[in-house]
Amino acid sequence: MVITWSEELEVGIETMDMQHKELIEKFNTLMNACAVGKGQEELESALTFLCDYTVQHFSDEEALQQQIGFPEFSRHKQLHDGFKVTVANLATQFKQDGPSPAILDRFSVDVGEWLIKHIKREDMKVASYSSHVLSMEQN
Ligand SMILES: [Fe+2]
Repeated sequence: MVITWSEELEVGIETMDMQHKELIEKFNTLMNACAVGKGQEELESALTFLCDYTVQHFSDEEALQQQIGFPEFSRHKQLHDGFKVTVANLATQFKQDGPSPAILDRFSVDVGEWLIKHIKREDMKVASYSSHVLSMEQN
């Protein structure tokens, strides 16, 4: 599975959109590397890039949420924390077993589909709250 960027994924906050694109690109790089049968070392480095970037992105996004006083911050952070655990567990399994069909399946569902859903359902709420805050400030 690879994720194709579409306007549906655009939340309208430039830094968030840029980081989401980067995140999706890192996910696609890993999935493509698995599909073409790259060596374990290369796969692991693609995986490390994805994990590191996820942590960085979530921390930036959480900082933004706190800055705007996003009311669902703690719930949203819990979702992020859960995802970080999922990715870390998958990474451990991946390092042990390599790109088995079972683990690629888990990646598609637990990482790829999760990201799409999270952006559309949860990050959109952050973006709309942020534009609400901005409009209040302007009045
Ligand atoms: Fe998020």
